[in-house]
Amino acid sequence: MPKVFVTRIIPDAGINKLTRAGYEVHLNPEDRVLQKDELIGLLEKERYDAVLALLTDKLDKDIFKAAGPQCKIFSNMAVGFDNVDLDAAKEMQIMVSNTPGVLTDTVAEHTFALLLAIAHRISEADNFTRAGKYHGWEPMMLLGSDVSKKTLGIIGLGRIGSRVAYHARKGFDMNVIYYDVKRSEDFEREFGATFSSDVEGVLKAADFVSIHVPLMEQTRHLINAERLKLMKKSAYLINTSRGPIIDEKALAGALKSGIIRGAALDVFEAEPKVEPELLKLNNVILTPHIASATEETRDKMAELAAFNIIEALEGRTPPNLVK
Ligand code: GLV
Repeated sequence: MPKVFVTRIIPDAGINKLTRAGYEVHLNPEDRVLQKDELIGLLEKERYDAVLALLTDKLDKDIFKAAGPQCKIFSNMAVGFDNVDLDAAKEMQIMVSNTPGVLTDTVAEHTFALLLAIAHRISEADNFTRAGKYHGWEPMMLLGSDVSKKTLGIIGLGRIGSRVAYHARKGFDMNVIYYDVKRSEDFEREFGATFSSDVEGVLKAADFVSIHVPLMEQTRHLINAERLKLMKKSAYLINTSRGPIIDEKALAGALKSGIIRGAALDVFEAEPKVEPELLKLNNVILTPHIASATEETRDKMAELAAFNIIEALEGRTPPNLVK
């Protein structure tokens, strides 16, 4: 009976799919991220045919070595795979897969939730009300910013970026400007969108900038102090992709000194740590990497991660291999 190691408690939907396929599932008994040496120890103790891992697991050559030649696949339950050393996996002839598609709507929804929340000052207003500071309607109280008919800048027009653009255009009649390494004239026609051949063009034009690029060496600190200065003073920055794409210290400085008006972040440079300067500011909303965290979507992610394993172990090509 093939054996699968799951690095942390995940929705039953994923575990059940594996057990129904006839696999023996061993689960990290503790509901926490395993330290590298702990994961190595567990993988060396038993021979596993597959590992279902999470974005909080750093999967490098030492881990693949510990898993040994019997292990065919590391299935990452995430769309992002910057936690995986793909070169090392290739060298060790281990397949790596991810879970794209099933979380697109949910992450786009969370992105829009952040965008609306920062523009309408929802967290500030909630704190204000709870603190007993609401003593009656005031004409100048907690004034925010409109979203409808403003310009949304999308950096990275993949599945999630496109879906955010859809909500912006169809729901809020926003103008869309985007940057991507690949231009899509179909997208431009469908959404009346404008292509910018560089990131700078988007930053200068947009009232809201939303980041949707994967983390790679080329995208690390894509948004730095210099680029923040190109944004409008009235603009907002939203990030639901990966934290290191923004220089967090530079962002805190820009928010403090009014270079931009606000930001909403679901991801951080050195998770789970958050730049302490950001914690002091009220023109930033911070959520703890939960953009895909709905019951429905986490079930689907767990099932898809399990399916990639089943396909690999049955000798077929998993649908979401990453190369
Ligand atoms: C979440 O961040 C993911 O990559 O799925």
